[in-house]
Order: sequence, then C-alpha cells, then structure tokens
Amino acid sequence: MCGIVGVLGRVEVAPRIVDSLKRLEYRGYDSAGVATLVDGQLVRRRAEGKLRNLESVLENAPLAGSAGIGHTRWATHGAPTVTNAHPHLAGSVAVVHNGIIENYLDLRDEVSAAGAVLDTETDTEVVAHLINLAMAAGKSPRDAVADVLPRLKGAFALALLFAGEDDLLIGARKGSPLAIGHGEGEMFLGSDAIALSPFTDRITYLEEGDWAVLTRSSVDIFDRDNTQVARPEAKSSVTSSLMDKGNYKHFMAKEIHEQPEVLGHTLSRYFDYTSNQASVEGADALNFKDLNRLIITACGTAYLAGLVSKYWFEKYARLPVEIDIASEFRYRETPVCDKDAALFISQSGETADTLASLRYCKEHGATIGAIVNVPESTIAREADRVFPTIAGPEIGVASTKAFTCQLAVLAALALQAGRERGVLSEAREKELVAELTEVPSLALKALAAETDIEKLSQPLSKAQNALYLGRATNFPLALEGALKLKELSYIHAEGYAAGELKHGPIALIDENMPVFVIAPYDAIYEKTVSNMQEVAARGGRIVLITDERGAAECGNAAENTVVLPNMTDIVAPIIYALPVQMIAYHTAVFMGTDVDQPRNLAKSVTVE
Ligand code: F6R
Repeated sequence: MCGIVGVLGRVEVAPRIVDSLKRLEYRGYDSAGVATLVDGQLVRRRAEGKLRNLESVLENAPLAGSAGIGHTRWATHGAPTVTNAHPHLAGSVAVVHNGIIENYLDLRDEVSAAGAVLDTETDTEVVAHLINLAMAAGKSPRDAVADVLPRLKGAFALALLFAGEDDLLIGARKGSPLAIGHGEGEMFLGSDAIALSPFTDRITYLEEGDWAVLTRSSVDIFDRDNTQVARPEAKSSVTSSLMDKGNYKHFMAKEIHEQPEVLGHTLSRYFDYTSNQASVEGADALNFKDLNRLIITACGTAYLAGLVSKYWFEKYARLPVEIDIASEFRYRETPVCDKDAALFISQSGETADTLASLRYCKEHGATIGAIVNVPESTIAREADRVFPTIAGPEIGVASTKAFTCQLAVLAALALQAGRERGVLSEAREKELVAELTEVPSLALKALAAETDIEKLSQPLSKAQNALYLGRATNFPLALEGALKLKELSYIHAEGYAAGELKHGPIALIDENMPVFVIAPYDAIYEKTVSNMQEVAARGGRIVLITDERGAAECGNAAENTVVLPNMTDIVAPIIYALPVQMIAYHTAVFMGTDVDQPRNLAKSVTVE
C-alpha cells in the first residue's frame, strides 16, 4: 500500500509532488521518489526511508519540469532500497504503482526474452517495460497502455509519464484506489482526495477497471472494456492543511487525548439524548427486526472493535453475529444471502481485504453497512449505508481514537437492534444510553491514570514478551493491548481469554513475564481474578487494570494496579481501551521506537 501522485502543472511540480506525498506517507514510508520531464526526458530522484530523505536529495539536486509523478512506498516485492524505490523507468516510460502485480514473474521472463534489462526486484518495473516494448513496436502511449492493462493480474493503481509527452499522464485503477483532481489549466492524479487536497477540491473517483488519459485541459476515462465513460465530479471536503501535533510529542499522544471530545461527538450523532434512545440514521436498511444473523468483517484493531460488539449484539439484541478477520472471510466461501446484513469496519475505508469481503457480501445479496472514519473512502462509497465515526483525522499509524469511536457507533447499533427486535425494553435502553452519556467524562478520568502508567511502562520496556488477559468484552481488549504493544514497541505480546490460559499458555509464565489483567468489577470479575491468582502462583509479574471496587477486592497478587473509576459493563470496553493504548505508547517512548510510524507498517493497507 503505497501512495501515488501525478501532476500536469504550469510551474515546477517536484515540490508540489513532495507536498502531496507528505499527506500520503501514512500509506508507507520505506522509500520515496519523484520523476519529472525535463526537456522531454524522464529524470528521477529517489531515496530510501522517509520522505525527508527524498527532500534532502531534492535540496542537493533539484528537479525541474512541470509534469511529474511521485511515490511513497510500503515494500511488497524487494527490500526498501533506492534501486527498488519508485518511479521505475523503462525507455520512454516512468511508472508509479500501488498494489501487487501477481503475475510479474511470468511477465519478467517475457520482457527479458524480448531484450529488456530489469534493474529491480519489484513487481512494478515490468509494467514500465511492457508498455515501453509496446511503444517501441509503434504504439502510441494510450494504445500501449490499453494493450498492457488487461495482461496485469492482481491489484494496482498506476500513474504513467512518458518521455517527450509533456502534456500527458495516464492513470489506471484495479483493486487499488485512484482519483483525478481537476485544476485550472492543470490536472492531477492521486491515491485519494487527501493527496489531491493541496491542488484542488474537484475530484473524480475512478471506478474498478477504469483507466484515464489526462492532459492539462482534458480527461478521457475508459472502463475495463475500453469504452469511454463519464464519471461524476465531486467536491471534496478534505482540508488541505497538514495536521499538526499541537503540544504533544507524537500524533498518537494527541489522538489518545482527543478521545473524550471525539467520543462525545460520535455518541451525540448516534444517540438521541432527549428520548435517551439509540438513533442511528440508515440503520433501517439493515432490517435488524427480521435479520437471521449479522456478519461483521474487518482487520486488525477495527476487527477487535467488531469482536467487542459481538458480545453487545448477542446480549442486548439476541442477534447472532458471525465475525471474522477480512483476509480469512474473503476466501472462506461462506454462505451469504439476501437475508443477511453485513457490517464492515475500517478507519481508512480503504483496507483491501475488508473491501474484498464487502464486495463478496454484496455480490451475494447482503445489505452492506460500513463504519468508517473517512467518509470519501472506497468502502464508504460501495456500502449501502455508511455510519461514520466522528474521530477526525487519525495520523498515528496505530489506531486509537478511531477504535473507541467505532465502539461508540457499534454500541448504538446494538441498542437500536435490541429495540427493533423487541428484546431490549424501553426502560433498559434508557438506562444504557444514560450510562453511555458518561463516556466522555469517564474517558477524561481514565486519562488521569497516565502518570502511573508511564511509571510502570519503564520497566516493561525491558521485557521481551508480555501477556494480556481478559474475559468477555475484555478479551478483545486483551488482544488489542497485545497488538498495540507489538506494533509500537516491538515487544512480543499475546492476548488471551483469561479462562484459556490454563490450556497451554500458562507454561510461559515465569518471573520475567509481565501479565496485564484487564478486569473491571463486573459479573465475571472473580473468575478473572482467579486466573490472575494462577499467574501469581507461578511467579508472573502482574499489572491489574481495574476500577476502584476491583482494586479493593483484588488482594495483593498484582505488582502494579491501574485504577480507573467505577463504570458499567457497556461503557467499560470503550474506557479500558485508553490505559491499554497508554501502556503501549509509553513503553514505546521509553524504547525510543518511532511511535507514529512504527517499522514495517502503514496506515492504510491497500494490498492483501
Ligand atoms: C493497529 C491498526 C491496524 C488497523 C488495520 C485496519 O493499531 O491500526 O490493525 O486497525 O490495519 O485498518 P482500517 O481500520 O483502516 O481498515
């Protein structure tokens, strides 16, 4: 999942391309590059690592030219070296690519046999060679692209620049998003509206299989059958200003601290506080009343939000939920029919596996709901109904505020489902909604535990492994705690259902193993505490995350206790996410890792 951009401008484009790439760096930061046309010749600059390295290269060796393409890479094929950095050149063609060309090995053999010399280990370079060979055989750039596109298997968004063609840019989309930006005497291509935001708010999204021929004054779009098609122009609401960290050291810290506010915004969109009822616009399409089951599919942290909601839909709405990670769901050939509704949860709204699962359910007739944080995203555009989280832009690669806002939307949907299915009484719904109104103030109080969390995180930063335990809705939170710790601090961590520990993982416990036990004082608190005692008896170093009542009842098994205010069941998973996030954050800060852009990751995973 890389970010791509293309500009046909009126002045030098390299600095503008870099500006756009800054907004795309969330898609990958293994390397970056720009190519422009200088006196009709393709010239490029590339650098390993973050965009600032490319900026230094460009400072030392500026690039002229008013037509260009740029790329920020999340490596799939080939190490993140300068040689493997995009743009890739072959003769008179330069290409940048987001996605994976699955049949690249066969195509490499083919172009090599035709005399091409390949310099890189990437799957992308072969595209430039194929088009270059077609042009060498006498085809125009447009005809060469039309010939080559059907031969590429896999997923791609491509932007192509051609030597000697100062007023031409060709883009293509299959599986990976690509948008056209319309300027005044200028034209742009970009992975999303965020990339295009410094240039224009007039956007045309290419549809699956589309490709487009751009000049400064025209756009011709063709579908997968090469029939010219019209695609609508929309006005983007994405702001062009780059986000800043305010007074925080990292975006992640800022985003953790924004949660009381954004949770307030999200809850007030989905609950009517006058009637104390869930009030989710568009939920009628999901037809909760007559639904046999709800399918929930997502990846990573978004999947864990879905897993929390399974407990809610089953408990409050007696609605069976089938939940799976999208990369498994999409290939399982699960029976899906028009009596099903399916919910897809995604911060970015671009995650390839989630999108593919959505399309699978759509093809089989299910009604599609999407919970996304980016309303203009592909998942939002392809869903029947969109339930946006009002989290604001999330820049830190590790999801924080989007997760808790996803939980807020899911809580509203679960209560609405309960009411519509006649299993949640009006009085009980009112109680639950009243409890949820406390979320912003409870989140604020949870943040007050940060000083204690910072202290206990310092010794943790020396650990090599950690375990997280929880039951019921705290089980997904245990998984989330382990995921966050792994991705930010690179410490190996696992999350387990507390009751499952004795079925194997307890063998791992010794005096070097930190064990985080997530145990609000609820109906199964004592069961979790028993599991905690089993860990203590084997010398494990316990950090108990609980509330005031839980802290009073827990005995002295824990080495450290994080104490949150007392709260009810429905609120707990939203609020307990905060200490879990802060533990991972502070551990990573002590370890000195790159908190906002951890190694090997990207914010938007547009490859499968
Ligand atoms: C972890 C994290 C990821 C994402 C996952 C799905 O902190 O952020 O696990 O949750 O990549 O991304 P979206 O929500 O954009 O579909």
